[in-house]
Amino acid sequence: SKKALIFDLDGVIVDTAKYHYKAWKKLANNLGFDFTEEQNELLKGVSRVKSLEILLEIGNVTLSDEEKLKVMNEKNEHYLGFITKMEQDEILEGIPEVLNYLRENKVPFSLGSASKNARLILTQLNLIDLFDAIVDGNDVSKAKPDPEVFLIAADKLKTAPENCIVVEDAIAGIEAANSAQMTSIGIGDKETLGEADIVLSSTAELNIELLEKLLRK
Ligand code: G6P
Ligand code: MG
Repeated sequence: SKKALIFDLDGVIVDTAKYHYKAWKKLANNLGFDFTEEQNELLKGVSRVKSLEILLEIGNVTLSDEEKLKVMNEKNEHYLGFITKMEQDEILEGIPEVLNYLRENKVPFSLGSASKNARLILTQLNLIDLFDAIVDGNDVSKAKPDPEVFLIAADKLKTAPENCIVVEDAIAGIEAANSAQMTSIGIGDKETLGEADIVLSSTAELNIELLEKLLRK
């Protein structure tokens, strides 16, 4: 069986999660309510539109469709301000080694992200050419926890979903991987990501030894 990997972007390849949080928090504050890091877990892995809906629900705020578009654009502008200044040293620990190992061993891998900024971020970090395929928020109609993004990635990698190993930091992403019948690796704490097949506390634990074990199975 031909194994393949699918990587989420935000919080797995690079720590953009903190920038998303800052930008959503600012929006929440502008709308007159607070937004905690714990509440932010619910937004991880979720599309921009869905994130806004969850945020507005938390703040008990209603906006017209026009206002929603406006604040989403503002949030993204604020976010882009952070990510266009991002440096390669913001790539998460161990990730460059893992990607290089996979390439050297001809194990195909794809991006599977909900972000519409994914290509911009990978280009900025000089990682874009390493990927065999990229599936992002521009390619899907159904957001995580729907498995669509990962199923398209498996298809692009020309392998069956059962052969795919997904690396994710979000609850919605783990759910998506599980419902696609893929092996799920959660990056984060066990409490939050309990549904994952394997939970690692950080990307530093996603080492070559563990990968070799998973690829041999
Ligand atoms: C990722 C992040 C989410 C973000 C979503 C959309 O899944 O984990 O926090 O809201 O992508 O990102 P975008 O860059 O398109 O706003
Ligand atoms: Mg993520």
